[in-house]
Amino acid sequence: MKISSLKLKNYRNYNSIELSFSPATNILLGKNAQGKTNLLEAIFTCAIGKSMRASKDSEVIKWGEENAKIELEVVKNFGKSKIEIYFLKNKKAIKINGLPIKRIGELLGELRCVFFSPDELKLIKESPEDRRRFMDIDLSQISKVYFNLLNKYEKIIRSRNKLLKDFKDKNSIKKSNLEQFNLEDFKRMISVYNIQLAECASKISISRNNLIVSLQPYVKKTHAFLTNNKEDLEIEYQTSFPIPNELLKGNEKIEQLKNKFISLYEKNLEKDLALGYTTIGPHRDDIKVSINGVDVKSFCSQGQQRTAALSMKLAELEIIKQQTGEMPILILDDVLSELDSQRREKLLNFCSKTQTFISSTDKPERIPNSNIIKIDSAKKIN
Ligand SMILES: Nc1ncnc2c1ncn2[C@@H]1O[C@H](COP(=O)(O)OP(=O)(O)O)[C@@H](O)[C@H]1O
Ligand SMILES: [Mg+2]
Repeated sequence: MKISSLKLKNYRNYNSIELSFSPATNILLGKNAQGKTNLLEAIFTCAIGKSMRASKDSEVIKWGEENAKIELEVVKNFGKSKIEIYFLKNKKAIKINGLPIKRIGELLGELRCVFFSPDELKLIKESPEDRRRFMDIDLSQISKVYFNLLNKYEKIIRSRNKLLKDFKDKNSIKKSNLEQFNLEDFKRMISVYNIQLAECASKISISRNNLIVSLQPYVKKTHAFLTNNKEDLEIEYQTSFPIPNELLKGNEKIEQLKNKFISLYEKNLEKDLALGYTTIGPHRDDIKVSINGVDVKSFCSQGQQRTAALSMKLAELEIIKQQTGEMPILILDDVLSELDSQRREKLLNFCSKTQTFISSTDKPERIPNSNIIKIDSAKKIN
């Protein structure tokens, strides 16, 4: 798929801008704080339905304005789509080909993209949450079913945690004889949540395991390429408690996996109760990343970590293509200056595989067929 055009209205520092793009490489060139990342953020938002950096949707509305709009046209193997996203103070509305959608899930798959910025180092360095996000963004772009499943799971977790916390709180009141808590009611409600959770958790775990297993050869290959075969990168899916690998392989053993989750929820109930939240399940999953057999997070240099994150992201391109039949677009925000010339050269190799958007303060050397867009104070200049 390729983005043909983008229009922004009162988005971040832009008043109004209209751009058309090359199907090959597009380079956004400009000094710091001119609006390059803002533009890439708008593109990313059309893929995922939310920004990679705004904590609130309304943050993207230009200061002093009431609303903002992104309009983007994408050309796919079969036809075109127009995505429009309107931001109002307390609300966001999305249209696809002029028709309003009710849920973000309907947007997924209209535009697929892989985003890489210096911030993505957190994929390796930071908490498991960033690695779960990596899996979830990837899987949601591949499958709406997964996205809906994840939302459902998160909703049930919130309700179960509330019940655990309520019980914990009431129990401490009970100690002072203020209120009696009905243990039977509590157990009955918890067991309903356990079944609902196990249903979602088993499907999520299988999807994530499949993703990591299919990514692994691409991650290995990409990392070997970027490091001149010096490093062997491996990724492994890690559940929050040991699950026999054969249960994660596919749907044949899903009933067994569900029962395993249920028994683990029961086994951990006392601990969950003491803490007031659900301590096991996909919301505690992680990915183990290692280079030449050692843990990247603890034992590798920042440079190695950055390359590892890049390898994972570039492998994502291949896996999305493999599973959807279309190559996603690639966004590289401010990453060229962080790489040595050899890795930069190698990274630019990937740009020829798909439509790419690169932001940079300096003109990168030798990129064939590149369309240079100079951005200065939120305007395109010649
Ligand atoms: N909602 C907003 N309204 C107006 N300006 C904004 C808004 N959000 C961010 N900005 C401005 O956008 C500029 C940063 O743009 P950015 O795209 O990050 O720059 P860069 O070209 O370095 O990537 C900053 O000057 C920031 O103050
Ligand atoms: Mg920037």
